[in-house]
Amino acid sequence: MIIDGVLLAAGSGTRMRSSVPKVLSPVLGAPLLSYPYRALVRLHERVGAVHVVVPPGGVLGEEPLGAPGSPPPLYVVQKVPDGTFGACEAVISSPAFLSGSSTHLLVLNGDGPLVEETLLESLVALGQDRPEALVLATAHLDDPTGYGRILRDPSGRVTAICEESAASPPEKAIREVNAGIYLIPRTILLEAAGRIAPDPRKGERYLTDLVSRVVSRNGEVLTLSVSPEAMRGVNTQEELSLVTAVLRERINRLHMARGVTLQDPLRTDIGPEVTIGPGTLVLPGSFLEGATKVGGSCRIGMGVHLLDTTVGDGAVLRDYVVASSAVVGPRAVVGPFAHLRPGTELGTEVHIGNFVETKKAVLGPGAKANHLSYLGDVTVGARTNIGAGTITCNYDGYEKFNTVIGEDVFVGSDTQLVAPLTVGDGSVIAAGSTVIGDLPSGALYLTRPTPDLRPEGATRYHERRRERRKHDKKKEST
Ligand code: UD1
Ligand code: CA
Repeated sequence: MIIDGVLLAAGSGTRMRSSVPKVLSPVLGAPLLSYPYRALVRLHERVGAVHVVVPPGGVLGEEPLGAPGSPPPLYVVQKVPDGTFGACEAVISSPAFLSGSSTHLLVLNGDGPLVEETLLESLVALGQDRPEALVLATAHLDDPTGYGRILRDPSGRVTAICEESAASPPEKAIREVNAGIYLIPRTILLEAAGRIAPDPRKGERYLTDLVSRVVSRNGEVLTLSVSPEAMRGVNTQEELSLVTAVLRERINRLHMARGVTLQDPLRTDIGPEVTIGPGTLVLPGSFLEGATKVGGSCRIGMGVHLLDTTVGDGAVLRDYVVASSAVVGPRAVVGPFAHLRPGTELGTEVHIGNFVETKKAVLGPGAKANHLSYLGDVTVGARTNIGAGTITCNYDGYEKFNTVIGEDVFVGSDTQLVAPLTVGDGSVIAAGSTVIGDLPSGALYLTRPTPDLRPEGATRYHERRRERRKHDKKKEST
């Protein structure tokens, strides 16, 4: 038995009422489609290629599906969304399928993110005993509305699947439904190609019509009973939120089992690819997504949002830190309210304080920028202290320029560093300076305006202003 995976993802998803293609709807920061994809890829010992059926123009852009390093999907375009069988036909007429040697297709609806590899394994095991049979997963639902109903003859054998739109009232009362997960022999698909008639109501060719076709040709249809949760599909925004809740719980449980403390797992969002080391505490309202990797014994405060960010062991991210494509070194302390933008690399024990923004900023071990700074296109050496209000002026309206600050430098508060420039090791820049050129190592630099101190000047100032106000009022009233 050689199995290829198929994900159906070319439907129009109109019930979502959104401009975002349904299968790309974000679930904990990952596209909806990536969940069943991951389940298929995790079966890699059993499943070879994974064909993803997409509409013309694709749906995915640059978005990677599944874990980094997992095999890329084979995209197949379904030219018109003429139904789930049309989608399968697109696969079986694709060069990749025709030149491959798979004997079976494991077909999943792309909008069912809760399916797990254990379920797929059971389905495959069932098929292994009966390689000629069509195997499908079914579930018993309290409310089967919207799903295809499983019709059985008096002996209990499956005879057909009846879609909601075609169901008679007694059929609508059937609570056993089609889960949208199938193991289909290649021969059955090839035989049915071009022979499934469109549904008279919707004009779509249904994959589910394959069942009555197989039965009428004396083929065998087997079912695997699965839990209602495993098969839950997403057709509406409300259903999207329901599956998100289930996936959140599943993912958070795994982290807790591995020694991560989640103060309130219901209010903590962690994406499917995120890793967190043991002994780390994550406070509520935080969202860790993408390829984020957090080390052990870290403290992640409230409302922290990390995208594709690596955090070293023992680091502390105080409340409301936002970081994307950044690296935070071991035992670094960041925030509250800091913004680490792409290209930020904080070394060991770096301190970044409140209202500091960094972008393409590489800070050496022990460097500090504790208050109100913009550090962009900059390298900061070890142990250097960046005073409050320091700004790297990296942009002249046309181009970006780099600033290089050496080790053990003291940058006084409210300094503007007009790039490009280099500040040598051990320099001291006095508060309020505007630096417009390179500083050699060990230099002291200051720009000071001439002070103009007038004793009692404030009193005279206020007198003058009050006089003027009186004068103006008089003029108005005459
Ligand atoms: C489908 C099943 C139904 C089952 C339910 C389980 C059919 C006809 N019906 O209904 O029996 O109970 O799933 O969730 O299959 N798609 C394409 N191309 C198309 C149309 C759809 O790729 O032309 C894709 C969609 O993107 C989606 C999947 O197929 O991922 C299922 O399509 P959808 O329209 O959601 O089918 P349901 O009405 O939910
Ligand atoms: Ca659906």
